[in-house]
Amino acid sequence: MGKIITFGTLKGGVGKTMLCFNIGGILSQLERRVLVVDGDLQGNLTNNMGIDRTNPDLFTTYDIYNIETPQPAPQQLILQKPIDRLPNLDMIAGSIFLHKAELKIASVAGREQILSNYLRDHQEFFDQYDYILIDTNPSMSIVNQNAFLASDAILLVSDVSMNAIEGAQLFIALWEDARRRLRKEDNIKGFIVNDFDSRNRLSSDFLEYLRTAQDVEDVRSLMFHTVIPRNIKITESELAAVPISIYDLRSKGCDAIAALVDEMFEREIL
Ligand SMILES: Nc1ncnc2c1ncn2[C@@H]1O[C@H](COP(=O)(O)OP(=O)(O)OP(=O)(O)O)[C@@H](O)[C@H]1O
Ligand SMILES: [Mg+2]
Repeated sequence: MGKIITFGTLKGGVGKTMLCFNIGGILSQLERRVLVVDGDLQGNLTNNMGIDRTNPDLFTTYDIYNIETPQPAPQQLILQKPIDRLPNLDMIAGSIFLHKAELKIASVAGREQILSNYLRDHQEFFDQYDYILIDTNPSMSIVNQNAFLASDAILLVSDVSMNAIEGAQLFIALWEDARRRLRKEDNIKGFIVNDFDSRNRLSSDFLEYLRTAQDVEDVRSLMFHTVIPRNIKITESELAAVPISIYDLRSKGCDAIAALVDEMFEREIL
């Protein structure tokens, strides 16, 4: 099976969905077969991909976790080529009902392994993808733990704030505990700084702090050199429901995300 990469942290609004969307876009333009999975009940990634979540016939990640009904075949679950110009990019949509899944699976045996098992059960189908990119919400929910457990790499995302560093550090501590119980190797492979504003002195002070302070050594050792700037084209591209690499290939945002992808290849995360 291709590599499974999940974006996570315990702070909201830092750019997890944005990176999942745009890295998925760039990889698919590099002729890789990519599946993006919306594991967040907010469904932001699904919206970004231009999918109508109110369609009652839509299969979503919820159908993987809903233990009261048989799991759908991947052929039913996957939305093929939701973005016309990206024929290598498929998706599994997200659903508000994921909060119900959380309650339903809370006390079943193997509750953290539902996603891994589903991918393994249908390995022949999922083998067609070079990469499976999963978006999560900022929590250590069981649904999220399923994604973290299935992953070859977890990438932590932070904006330029102490709360976001703390969110990443808390994530590292909680996942360390959970993954040891689950006998999973250490799979946190990176820490990405997003939303850097070069006009703001605080942003450069923050970066300096990250690169030197002793109490952030855990995230520093994971940190990517590439820093993603705040760039309005990134927000605009989401509204246009296409990744930045289609919306504005020459924007600073696109340059930085492409450099991040290069660094991910160098580090053998991709
Ligand atoms: N570098 C950036 N430049 C401009 N806008 C950005 C940048 N990064 C993220 N945004 C915008 O900030 C908002 C929050 O980003 P995003 O939805 O990716 O965060 P998130 O971590 O997924 O949030 P949540 O935890 O709620 O899922 C979005 O509207 C996104 O377009
Ligand atoms: Mg999100």
